[in-house]
Amino acid sequence: MDASCRICSGPVKAFVDLGRQPRGNAFPRAGQVADEFRYQLVVGMCDTCTMVQLMADIPQEVRYHDEYPYHASNSVVHSRHFEGLARHFLDKELTGPDPFIAEIGSNDGVMLATIAAAGVRHLGIEPSTQVAEMSRARGVRVLSQFFDESSAGPIRAEHGPADVMFGANVIAHISHLASVLKGAKKLLGPGGVFVFEEPYLGSVIEQTAFDILYDEHSFVFSVRAIQAAAEPYGLELVDAEPVALHGGSMRYTLGQPGARPVGPGVPALLAAEAAQGLGEHATLEAFARRAERIRDELTALVGSLRAEGRTVVGYGAPAKITTVTNYCGFGPDVIPFVCDSTPSKQGRVVAGSHIPVVTPAVFAESDADYAILFAWNHAEEIMAKERAFAARGGRWLLYVPEVHIV
Ligand code: TYD
Ligand code: ZN
Repeated sequence: MDASCRICSGPVKAFVDLGRQPRGNAFPRAGQVADEFRYQLVVGMCDTCTMVQLMADIPQEVRYHDEYPYHASNSVVHSRHFEGLARHFLDKELTGPDPFIAEIGSNDGVMLATIAAAGVRHLGIEPSTQVAEMSRARGVRVLSQFFDESSAGPIRAEHGPADVMFGANVIAHISHLASVLKGAKKLLGPGGVFVFEEPYLGSVIEQTAFDILYDEHSFVFSVRAIQAAAEPYGLELVDAEPVALHGGSMRYTLGQPGARPVGPGVPALLAAEAAQGLGEHATLEAFARRAERIRDELTALVGSLRAEGRTVVGYGAPAKITTVTNYCGFGPDVIPFVCDSTPSKQGRVVAGSHIPVVTPAVFAESDADYAILFAWNHAEEIMAKERAFAARGGRWLLYVPEVHIV
């Protein structure tokens, strides 16, 4: 499979194929699985700019539908993180006479609620109507649409230039990233910053976190690729800083060229990426081989536990569960249920693998022997809250960075 880069039109070479997959966040009702959308989950890297990207093109309307079930406020750790970030923006960036902050993909308002409470001008741009409604209930001003080059002009005309543009776990989702960068160039004020944090390629490779690859992740960013992507669109990478969310993320700060000094994080991380071989195909192909080995080990372990008469269930139904269960061929015959705290996922099934999603109460009342922690990036929070499971002899099964039992 060959493709051209969505950023620079260079040749993209595939390095991993995780099979035919449905949408990660579809969570259909059990009776709605007859004509599930499927695509080949192949990911490649651009030879020219090193941007890692999905080879298939999936229409965004298929992904961010009205019932989009991801709620950013579901995790206490995430909520605190975004509140802290909002305070940082209020203290450091939104200090002028009448500052303005715009957030792309503001979800349920987890970050902007703090900004709104401080009485600062803001705008969320969120196409999924249910989560947008949730943020409105928190006093957040939201525009229900996609952000791109054409929406930036009208937003600037109405609200003026942005001091801060923000996006979390959304910018890497947008296949028309080039248009978003053009839009950011238009909307940002002369001293403004475009800050976004997204799962980091370096962490994905280091931990063999292959389940971060699914339809919504059009890209997996690195510092080198973001620096290369920003430049042709008239933006400059001025800072990069690791963030310990989603199993390893990076926060990137873009500014107007020359408007801000480039922070020491940029050269330091570029050097670390070179040492890790992030821009080299051999590194990514080795990752693909490790993913295959982990799949084989996980299916073998679950198979042998079941052969011994143990029950294995799942904990957490992040989008990642779709990739891993479909890649491993796990269905409800192997994993009878997975529990998740998100009400809109409960009573539904994981796309493709059709494992039912139940409430955490069902898990607590079950006599499961093993629980695969699909929400492995929330391990600390979940293991603390489910202490009773381990106390009664239940064991956690993880597959990142290797298959292991806790
Ligand atoms: P997350 O890793 O945040 O997102 P993604 O879908 O992008 O991979 O998803 C974590 C999932 O785990 C989410 O569906 C909520 C669920 N969860 C619980 O069920 N219990 C918990 O205690 C926590 C923290 C999360
Ligand atoms: Zn490219």
